[in-house]
Amino acid sequence: MQVSTHNFSEIESELRRRSPLESLAFLAEQFAGRAVFSSSFGIEDQVVAHLIFTNKLPIRVFTLDTGRNFQETYSTWARTLERYQQPIEVFSPQAAAVETLLAEKGPNSFYHSIANRKECCHIRKVEPLSRALKGQQLWVTGIRAEQSPNRHDMTSLEWDEAHQLFKFHPLFDWTFQQVRDFVREHNIPYNPLHDRGFVSIGCAPCTRAVQPGEDFRAGRWWWEDASKKECGLHDVGRNAVPA
Ligand code: ADX
Ligand code: SF4
Repeated sequence: MQVSTHNFSEIESELRRRSPLESLAFLAEQFAGRAVFSSSFGIEDQVVAHLIFTNKLPIRVFTLDTGRNFQETYSTWARTLERYQQPIEVFSPQAAAVETLLAEKGPNSFYHSIANRKECCHIRKVEPLSRALKGQQLWVTGIRAEQSPNRHDMTSLEWDEAHQLFKFHPLFDWTFQQVRDFVREHNIPYNPLHDRGFVSIGCAPCTRAVQPGEDFRAGRWWWEDASKKECGLHDVGRNAVPA
């Protein structure tokens, strides 16, 4: 069956009955040559990369290098290259935009207002993402429903209106424990910050460890109101079935 904007919710239910690997293989075939996976080297992304790399699925892997990542994230990236010997494409922010931002507002403008924070995320993540997704038909991510109340409202296969492509989250229904068990079982390299209380890991100045029992995303942009804490990569409410 061909995935289209008319039948994707039906296909979504079908995919939920399959394993992440089976679903990825099915979609990679459907969107041959037009499927990509975005990795920030978080623990979920490492599971997805393992499935793609070890099964040689025709899904290109890329990362958005914000320039503000933790050294542990860069080490995880390097260990991933060593382990799988497969390419990871890189999309960096436009140099001129970063230079203007830093010259006009300094290196820590994101702490001063939500508008400044969104401006930085736009320059370092959202704009490079739009280049990474250009011409693609399927965007695979490591999102899980459990990560935030907003994400509970998503589905594992979605239509992304803004980027005009399908989005698939192969680990959507997995728990954090399932992710950890899979990583241990397959000896997958992972970010050592996950062993130090970091659950969701983004840029270094905008991420901190969380206390047991705290929300998964409590360590991201912790100084902001919880309802505003999306960086623009996955805007909730943007995904919809086209008319
Ligand atoms: S974010 O919107 O808050 O930054 P989050 O960190 O939860 O997103 O990650 C969710 C998914 O977005 C990841 O599994 C990955 O697919 C993608 N993603 C997030 N940050 C990056 C990045 N820097 N490079 C590539 N993909 C990313
Ligand atoms: Fe900038 Fe922080 Fe957004 Fe990273 S998470 S792009 S440092 S505002």
